[in-house]
Amino acid sequence: MATSADSVGLELIGLNKILGGRTIIENLDLSVKKGEMVSLLGPSGCGKTTTLRMIAGFLIPDAGKVILAGTDVTTLGPDKRPSAMVFQNYALWPHMSVFKNVAYPLKIRKLAKDEIERRVHDALSLVNLMHHKDSRPSQISGGEQQRVALARALVQEPDILLLDEPLSNLDAKLRVKVREDIRDLQRRLGITTVIVTHDQDEALSISDRIAVMNDGRIEQFSTPQALYDQPATEYVANFIGSLNRFEGSFEDGRVQSGDNIVGIRPEDVYFSSHQQPGSHPATVELVVPRGHFFEVYLNSNDHKIRSFMSSEIPQVGATGFVRISKALIYKDGKLVKVA
Ligand SMILES: Nc1ncnc2c1ncn2[C@@H]1O[C@H](COP(=O)(O)OP(=O)(O)O)[C@@H](O)[C@H]1O
Ligand SMILES: [Mg+2]
Repeated sequence: MATSADSVGLELIGLNKILGGRTIIENLDLSVKKGEMVSLLGPSGCGKTTTLRMIAGFLIPDAGKVILAGTDVTTLGPDKRPSAMVFQNYALWPHMSVFKNVAYPLKIRKLAKDEIERRVHDALSLVNLMHHKDSRPSQISGGEQQRVALARALVQEPDILLLDEPLSNLDAKLRVKVREDIRDLQRRLGITTVIVTHDQDEALSISDRIAVMNDGRIEQFSTPQALYDQPATEYVANFIGSLNRFEGSFEDGRVQSGDNIVGIRPEDVYFSSHQQPGSHPATVELVVPRGHFFEVYLNSNDHKIRSFMSSEIPQVGATGFVRISKALIYKDGKLVKVA
């Protein structure tokens, strides 16, 4: 292994996994820096949980290596790895108190009673749950159960924290708050974290880097900004943010006939009643309020294109000019040019 640098938190090399006779994960590489927070982002069924389970040791790859904190752990069980996982459904013991749930992994490891007490106390304090230490999981809210599951992972003082869709059981408002709490805790503890999600908003807002997965492979591994600005494949461009998609080419500030794919973010489409350099005549066909912005559907030269606008919203039927500030050009699914 050439990557013994201690800046590497975890490394996956050429992972393969076949389940039910089907290749689920194919030649997957991923390198996460120490202290970094990385999301595995992709649609349901693309192999996120399978990948996380191989990192955690609940599943052994058919080929490839898992290196955690500099050690090859590929064939070791979960309890022999410096990682702790929070499961999607939390997997709390219903008959045990919050305290006992969190203490459980330490009991298994046969730690001394006073050390268990101290560490459970610390972990529950970290997630602000000491006042619920004697409650049963059924007596606390979903958000609190989620924090118990988090405390049960943190109490193990892992080098690597693994979270499988930790927010999917929470309602929308709570989800935003809890994801910020998790991010804050992750930063404070400086703990290398891999979080699985199918929610692009979630991934974009909390990750240092995002690995976008498609059918058992990683399509692109970049910062949120780079994924958004320069999506390397058409798949990523469609998955992250919104996109106007045309078959054609992009010349003279507009879509023309051609055999590439032209992707244009609605944020890069501007409508105005005044002509500007590079703008073209357009008509407003539909205006949809979207809360803090409007979705404005335009027709320009028989191309329908969407714009996101937040001021000087036009009326349906208005005529004016559309200007496109940026276009992503794809050939065979790969980004070939940003125009
Ligand atoms: N034990 C298994 N046996 C057969 N197929 C499985 C098994 N576990 C997962 N799969 C399949 O592998 C694919 C990826 O699953 P998973 O990793 O859970 O996806 P994700 O977490 O991205 O939704 C799915 O098609 C799923 O049906
Ligand atoms: Mg999953």
